[in-house]
Amino acid sequence: MSLKKVNPEQPKTFEFNEKTKNIAQEILKKYPEKNKKSAVMPLLYLAQRQNDNWIPLAAMKYIAKYLAMPYISVYEVATFYTMYNLSPVGKHFIQVCTTTPCLLRGADKIVKLCKENISPNENEISKKGNCSWMEVECLGACVSAPMVQINDDYYEDLDEKSTKEILISLLNDKPLKPGSYRGRKNTSPEKISISNGEKHA
Ligand code: FES
Repeated sequence: MSLKKVNPEQPKTFEFNEKTKNIAQEILKKYPEKNKKSAVMPLLYLAQRQNDNWIPLAAMKYIAKYLAMPYISVYEVATFYTMYNLSPVGKHFIQVCTTTPCLLRGADKIVKLCKENISPNENEISKKGNCSWMEVECLGACVSAPMVQINDDYYEDLDEKSTKEILISLLNDKPLKPGSYRGRKNTSPEKISISNGEKHA
């Protein structure tokens, strides 16, 4: 599991842009005024989306003021959950699941390919400046192991060949399609065809 580090270089200020402010206001409507600090997680997520997929300390301070809660409480949440990035990540951000089902199905080979093709260490930006990768815990798609999440999409049923093709496509800014790389539809069993409403193995 990777260690999350707060980026040493930090912007001095942060504030929501108009679009993010509107979304934040809609989110706040879901919470009673006295419990508005419960919106800290979606607001951190919004800050991350606005700021090229990472959260600077200035954003945590901004959200603390926005929700009238202590900065340290926002910091605690942001540093606890792995979906919040505390340092810049690549435009193509590859999260490799290395929990047991994925590991048993070859996630170690995916990690090796990331080291060879993206960067020798996780949480480093690739030489071309457009990709980064990190190991993560189970992403809830164990049935399609091994798998990776790239930005908002899942790439599943991977092997060394398909992983390498995907990584090269990202390095060239031409991402391949997400989904199963063994031709499965969603999580259906392999080698099943459907005809006349009947399933055949
Ligand atoms: S173990 Fe990899 S998605 Fe669950």
